[in-house]
Amino acid sequence: STGALTDRLDRPMRDLRISVTDRCNFRCVYCMPKEIFGRDYAFLDREELLSFEEIERIARVAAAHGVRKLRLTGGEPLLRRGIEDLIARLAALRTPEGNRLDLALTTNGSALAVKAQALKDAGLGRLTVSVDTLDDELFQRMNDVRFPVARVLDGISTAAAVGLGPIKLNMVVKRGLNDHEVEAMAAHFKGTHYTLRFIEYMDVGTSNGWSMHEVVPSAEIIQRVDTLFPLEPAAPSAVGETAKRWRYRDGSGEIGVISSVTNAFCGTCNRARISTEGRLYTCLFATEGHDLRALLRGGADDVELATAMASIWGARDDRYSEERAALTPALRAARPRIEMSYIGG
Ligand code: GTP
Ligand code: 5AD
Ligand code: SF4
Ligand code: SF4
Repeated sequence: STGALTDRLDRPMRDLRISVTDRCNFRCVYCMPKEIFGRDYAFLDREELLSFEEIERIARVAAAHGVRKLRLTGGEPLLRRGIEDLIARLAALRTPEGNRLDLALTTNGSALAVKAQALKDAGLGRLTVSVDTLDDELFQRMNDVRFPVARVLDGISTAAAVGLGPIKLNMVVKRGLNDHEVEAMAAHFKGTHYTLRFIEYMDVGTSNGWSMHEVVPSAEIIQRVDTLFPLEPAAPSAVGETAKRWRYRDGSGEIGVISSVTNAFCGTCNRARISTEGRLYTCLFATEGHDLRALLRGGADDVELATAMASIWGARDDRYSEERAALTPALRAARPRIEMSYIGG
């Protein structure tokens, strides 16, 4: 069938997020803190990673069963050797109606100045870049590897110049760390072609030491930006979108807020995730994945792969971000969680 797979809450599988490496050259304090992701952290070995053929196959079968959007993530996806070749393979895939898939990539921007043209040539559709602050001292402290913000901004300009737009920028806001940068970020990117999104700091994984006190609610962000530059709500551009959109009333563009803590969006969540070693996760906070790699390497054909996906997705009832509010801190802490660098943002 060409219809979308639906889960137990009637949500279709539309978006496949693929983690192509669990490694990153940054050590962002909210994602891969150095104390945990240090010298002797055991990253996956090469044979454990899905090959490009394997990723392409999963994506092709998913596209035949309703997936319309692919997002490459990590870790840092531009660290995966030959990523352009994977992009070219994925860009060649078509939906049953013969259309291209929406092909996007989320990056920290550190390699963009060098790689943007190759990504464009390979057929990448669009790009999201993480930028948590414009203050160079703070930026270097947040990535914790002394990477200067100017080089990321250069990479973003290069990407825009080669036509890799529309480009979205992600700012994870952590109270007491970079929340004072909200207004400066809004001012800097207002009137540009970049769409800035403010992201509530989430309790993904167990190594970042998350606490509710460090979350800045989107309502506060909108109110602060609106005081400076009046905003009005904008209609969603797609069902199941993570970001709520707001337009500047003076017509100079828009911003978004991703409120996975204060206003969860599980009700329309159409996202499946493939970890670096080929496990299918039906939620960013799923406690277990389903080993598609074992199927592939065990000789399963496309029909068997599709059947497995349909049964995994069909059993899905995840809605962690909606449930979180009702959990006591102890219950929340007791729940196993998977690192974002492994499962993919
Ligand atoms: P668009 O396709 O452009 O809408 O991008 P996106 O928002 O799907 O992707 P992006 O990788 O930029 O994600 C932005 C933020 O939203 C990241 O912090 C993600 O971890 C978070 N996010 C994305 N999908 C989910 C999800 O399914 N659940 C939760 N709780 N957070 C998510
Ligand atoms: N909470 C919210 N967003 C996060 N990201 C990484 N870790 C977290 C977290 N704990 C963001 C990255 C990137 C996106 C894919 O996810 O900054 O922009
Ligand atoms: Fe790397 Fe992105 Fe995680 Fe930062 S948020 S450590 S850039 S994967
Ligand atoms: Fe989807 Fe899980 Fe995120 Fe909810 S918490 S939006 S179900 S990935």
